[in-house]
Amino acid sequence: MNDHADLVARALLEIRASADLGGLDEVRVRWLGKKGELTAALKSLGALPVAERPAAGGRINAAKEEVQAALEARRLELERRQVDAELVAGRIDVTLPGRGEERGALHPVTQARLRIEALFGRAGFDIAVGPEIEDDFYNFGALNIPENHPARALHDTFYFPDGRLLRTHTSPVQIRSMLARGAPLALIAPGRVYRCDHDITHSPMFHQIEGLAVDTNITFGDLKGTLDHAMKALFGSSVKTHFRPSFFPFTEPSAELYVTCFICGGSGKRGADPCRPCKQTGWIEVLGCGMVDPNVFEFVKDNGYDPKKVSGFAFGMGVDRLALLKYGVDDLQYFFQGDVRFLQQFS
Ligand code: DAH
Repeated sequence: MNDHADLVARALLEIRASADLGGLDEVRVRWLGKKGELTAALKSLGALPVAERPAAGGRINAAKEEVQAALEARRLELERRQVDAELVAGRIDVTLPGRGEERGALHPVTQARLRIEALFGRAGFDIAVGPEIEDDFYNFGALNIPENHPARALHDTFYFPDGRLLRTHTSPVQIRSMLARGAPLALIAPGRVYRCDHDITHSPMFHQIEGLAVDTNITFGDLKGTLDHAMKALFGSSVKTHFRPSFFPFTEPSAELYVTCFICGGSGKRGADPCRPCKQTGWIEVLGCGMVDPNVFEFVKDNGYDPKKVSGFAFGMGVDRLALLKYGVDDLQYFFQGDVRFLQQFS
């Protein structure tokens, strides 16, 4: 009997001394495993006289149960400690500032487009879109630019082998919109356009916004008033506008619109130096425009655009160029390189 009390006391000491679950399991194996000390004691019962076996067996079983209960209690305690330790180690400091959560911003060209869209939207212009892969008819033919017309040479066009092309301007959306809906109509058409051209002021892909308004009795005065208002809204009320005669196959008469130079304010000088963006003229060209050529209406006249009854104005502007001039950026490439250091300046 003393033997057993001694064994239990030693087992309990070891159990209490085990510092983690792994150590505790070793203790369990040492006492209760197949070759454990208490197991061995049970096995040795066979050597006792039959009459003593039940009493001795009861004592050993009681000892075994005591050790088992101690093991279980220690296991629970060690598990609880482990959870507590993990909770402390993994504690989240909710007051730490987040990482990698820098604020984004819209690209300057997108900002310019959205401003122009909002401005014309308030004036009642819808937004129209068209495909970037176009047919000759929409990009040239229906815009009064027949084959072999010299104006085609001005558009360095990317052609596909099947004769289709990447649109060189947003003007084809004029034709698509008029074919899709009748007059009256007022819309702007923003989008990407493509030309085989690449230097510091030209990119093979750039952005334009087309404008078109058709109704009965639309005059050149409407065109001037609309664009003058738009330029003042975009660039500030002190901006002056200036229309100069020009030529586009799809408008007659045609004009180029100039506004007071954003950089020099119209003086043509920057301090003592000549102002480069406006070539010292004090004026910056911002878009092409004109009255829709009756020849263009001829292509869509069955959709309610009888050239004898309706008239309209159209305009087209380069969004990248406007953003470039407005922000005084000296190389168009910056807009397309995605360099965060450059883009951050516009957030
Ligand atoms: N499509 C012309 C270009 O890309 C721009 C343009 C000029 C559009 C006059 C127009 C317009 O609608 O009336 O150069």
